[in-house]
Amino acid sequence: MNFEFILVEPAIEKHIALVRLNRPKELNALNLQLMGELRDALKSLDDNDEVRVIIITGNERAFAAGADIKQMAGKTAIDMLQIDQFSTWDSIRKTKKPLIAAVSGFALGGGCELSMLCDMIVASENAKFGQPEIKIGVMPGAGGTQRLTRAVGKARAMEMVLTGNFINAQEALSYGLVNRVVPEELYLDEAIKLARDIAAQSPIAVQMAKESVNKTYENHLQEGLFFERKNFYMLFASEDQKEGMAAFVEKRKPDFKGR
Ligand code: CAA
Repeated sequence: MNFEFILVEPAIEKHIALVRLNRPKELNALNLQLMGELRDALKSLDDNDEVRVIIITGNERAFAAGADIKQMAGKTAIDMLQIDQFSTWDSIRKTKKPLIAAVSGFALGGGCELSMLCDMIVASENAKFGQPEIKIGVMPGAGGTQRLTRAVGKARAMEMVLTGNFINAQEALSYGLVNRVVPEELYLDEAIKLARDIAAQSPIAVQMAKESVNKTYENHLQEGLFFERKNFYMLFASEDQKEGMAAFVEKRKPDFKGR
């Protein structure tokens, strides 16, 4: 499997596949092409009988620093509705095999949302999770208001989403957002260990168990995700979105006017 923005190893060891997000210079910002490649790779690994567990990772500095702000900055609300960039996420959500996110460094915005779209998260001690979209004049659009609230509870999710402040790995562990925190040099090994424990089980029982856990976890989730997505796209009709994203690109503080 040859892709431009991800690296795929279908058998990092028996039954375990590894997908590495690979735009290191841009901190693995999730542009449309990368997300399309990720959707295609996961579909193909899901269809491969040899694969039982899939690990998604980035590099030591960043799992992913969010959706690609430079790609979105000039878009209108109608552009966003027509491009519907988060529709690829619906396909990824349908992956039947367990997905483990191995997170080091930044997992921000869409990066945090992608880690939460996975079934479990193994974090390095230097991991930082956050939904900083509010700082660029928008809001989470790919599950941040929905999955984060379910994972960490309303008070913590509200604070993270409304301030944009990050939490560190230990906080993420105590909030119940991640499964384990290990030293940076071990986070991928730890994810593989976890994958091995799952890969040793009956693949059909594992898939049905995953589906069952998600049945309760995802109850009413689709409605919430759709609502969030529409609000995210609609914010591209505001001056504050233009100002917030332009300020990021120009490396200055935004001047929000509430319009
Ligand atoms: N989109 C596009 N480019 C990004 C990016 C993003 N989300 N995050 C980082 N980059 C780029 C930077 O622009 C920079 O590029 P240049 O070298 O060309 O200037 C490069 O990656 C390295 O980043 P920094 O120089 O900013 O690195 P830093 O260590 O000083 O800061 C950071 C790191 C705090 C993560 C900072 O890059 C940052 O704040 N990034 C944006 C985080 C963010 O707002 N994410 C949410 C995006 S919106 C979203 O995700 C919507 C959704 O719900 C899906």
